[in-house]
Amino acid sequence: MAQTWTPNSWRQKPIQQVPDYPDVAVLDSVEARLAKYPPLVFAGEARRLKSALANVAEGRGFLLQGGDCAESFAEHGADTIRDFFRAFLQMAVVLTFGAQQPVVKVGRIAGQFAKPRSSGVEKQGDVTLPSYRGDIINGIEFTEEARVPNPERQVMAYRQSAATLNLLRAFAMGGYANLENVHQWMLGFVKDSPQAERYRKLADRISETMDFMKAIGITAENHPSLRETDFFTSHEALLLGYEQALTRVDSTSGDWYATSGHMIWIGDRTRQPDHAHIEYCRGIKNPLGLKCGPSLTADGLLELIDILNPANEAGRLTLICRFGHDKVAEHLPRLIRAVEREGKKVVWSCDPMHGNTITLNNYKTRPFERILSEVESFFQIHRAEGSHPGGIHIEMTGNDVTECTGGARALSGDDLADRYHTHCDPRLNADQALELAFLLAERMKGGRDEKKMVVNG
Ligand code: PEP
Ligand code: CO
Repeated sequence: MAQTWTPNSWRQKPIQQVPDYPDVAVLDSVEARLAKYPPLVFAGEARRLKSALANVAEGRGFLLQGGDCAESFAEHGADTIRDFFRAFLQMAVVLTFGAQQPVVKVGRIAGQFAKPRSSGVEKQGDVTLPSYRGDIINGIEFTEEARVPNPERQVMAYRQSAATLNLLRAFAMGGYANLENVHQWMLGFVKDSPQAERYRKLADRISETMDFMKAIGITAENHPSLRETDFFTSHEALLLGYEQALTRVDSTSGDWYATSGHMIWIGDRTRQPDHAHIEYCRGIKNPLGLKCGPSLTADGLLELIDILNPANEAGRLTLICRFGHDKVAEHLPRLIRAVEREGKKVVWSCDPMHGNTITLNNYKTRPFERILSEVESFFQIHRAEGSHPGGIHIEMTGNDVTECTGGARALSGDDLADRYHTHCDPRLNADQALELAFLLAERMKGGRDEKKMVVNG
């Protein structure tokens, strides 16, 4: 592992989850074209995210990471992006209020296109075809033609990411995220939802505070932090040819950065320490995520931490734990203990989605109560171990989809067919996402009160 790293040294390693491109010459020419395109994000931004995450690793802040399981070409549009951003901001404001700590906002967006699959093929009736691997690789339609990996899709994904990022930057910096708009972020369908009253009350309190601050001279005009927000992008670094093409040297530091997104993560299926995905990620300086599932041993985790974060830099590595509501108590404590014992600096984040997927009426779904249950356990375990429950990683949308069952509107298995739009895994709708945020806020407030009691008692 101590061998020299280059943006293409991963090509010498064994690799999982590679698409079977029929024409390698076309693939090479697309990658060469991408390598000349402008970076999507800048090294300085990635460094700013890393320092925000360093605070989280040290117990001062909370990471909110979420978005589509898989972005799609079909769902690309201004309304979808706005609705997502609005739902995300609502969650963030609820969490900030609950935690009374900065919330680091990272979308699974503007690059989240490539999907790892449990099986290389999909069977429907008597027909077997290659699996759908995300719009950056092939098409979701169940036809032989659509399922052939097409390199040109990488250019389409790049352009969609650029357009998405452009709108997100405008929303984050151009006034939409102004806290004075906290009431307007109420989405159409959340407006008459069970969460609406709770949200309205919170928004009232924020407005009142803003009025008070205005009275003493602190306004959105003279305080950018009231009218702007830092919003970062992230995705799974699965398609390494694409990642390599967007890997660039930062002229100020001389370091290599992935410029496809601010933070990238390594999936649970591609984290073998001597394989290609770990090799690629170890050499770039962006903040990294590592998915931790039930098969990860404590020693295996420590080995990966040493490879990915040899300098033990806070903010470099976020452990995204995805065990399942019934397995988290078995697996999380042993990993926390090993990390604490070795003094490794990490952000602990909870992905309560990927260990809780079931099939109901032929739909992949996730019962909301299992998602809540994994989150609750995550908090309890961290409190018991004395570590910081630093974040949440969710699949969500701002749209009124029916993909996860349960929640305050009690979506049932029979409702799934109504608006099941995901290109991959089931997402929380805006209503469920907000409900989750309120629960998290309560837990974080609980943790604060407990700390105060320890200090005062
Ligand atoms: C995902 O985040 O969509 C995903 C595939 O997760 P994991 O690697 O944890 O299964
Ligand atoms: Co997913």
